Amino acid sequence: MLVLGNDEVHVWRATLDQPPSQIQSLLHNLAADEQARAERFCFERDREHFIAARGVLRAILGGYLNREPQRLSFCYNSYGKPALAGESDGDAIRFSVSHSHGVALYAVGRGRDVGIDLERIRSDVAVAQIAERYFSRREVATLRALPAEAQRQAFFLGWTRKEAYIKARGEGLSLPLDQFDVSLAPGEPAAVLGTQRDPFEASRWSLQELTPAPGYAAALAVEGHGWRLTCWQWPDGC
Ligand SMILES: CC(C)(COP(=O)(O)OP(=O)(O)OC[C@H]1O[C@@H](n2cnc3c(N)ncnc32)[C@H](O)[C@@H]1OP(=O)(O)O)[C@@H](O)C(=O)NCCC(=O)NCCS
Repeated sequence: MLVLGNDEVHVWRATLDQPPSQIQSLLHNLAADEQARAERFCFERDREHFIAARGVLRAILGGYLNREPQRLSFCYNSYGKPALAGESDGDAIRFSVSHSHGVALYAVGRGRDVGIDLERIRSDVAVAQIAERYFSRREVATLRALPAEAQRQAFFLGWTRKEAYIKARGEGLSLPLDQFDVSLAPGEPAAVLGTQRDPFEASRWSLQELTPAPGYAAALAVEGHGWRLTCWQWPDGC
């Protein structure tokens, strides 16, 4: 059984490229509707990644709740943010998931909202154009002021921080991406710097940069301050 205090946040990393025997075993963690969904994938790799991502999520959450993974059920808010059904008291386990190119990250907190995002740093993304379209004016100005060779990394740092915050808030893209600012210059601590609609909102959140694997950017957003982070590798633990 896994133990998580109110002042702790756990982040789990898993590879979605698992051997066939592990995929078979993770399939048993899935609920019937998820198993049916797995059957509908056209490509075997997508099917296996779905089974691994959902099966590992259930294994991790089952560990904290001391319940069989297959018996957990999820509910969703109107923007699609998943939560554990029937776990709504103040100390309930809350989680967030992100996957990108075969790697998955899971953030787990107790009694506080968490959001996590992971992206592979790709060379085929037109970072300046995407930033102009989606980032805030302050973020675009910061990005432009950086040396050209630092801009791609900064863009992905900013992107994952914005996504992690949006996922923690759970309001999807109804929270416009250009209405809040995050830090993004490489070497600068991760932070929500400000939001347009509430001057106190930024101080309610912590952001943390994560480095889960070479060539990836990732960020964790957590409600409140003063929590301790422990990172784990699934299935081995610490
Ligand atoms: C769905 C979204 C929450 C993240 O999607 P994503 O980055 O493509 O995918 P990730 O792998 O990081 O996250 C997917 C997980 O987020 C979770 N999720 C879905 N909707 C969510 C919401 N409203 N809030 C929080 N989490 C959500 C689910 O657990 C999902 O996992 P699943 O697919 O296994 O069910 C949403 O913010 C989105 O579509 N973002 C894209 C925005 C964009 O274009 N950004 C441009 C750069 S700033």
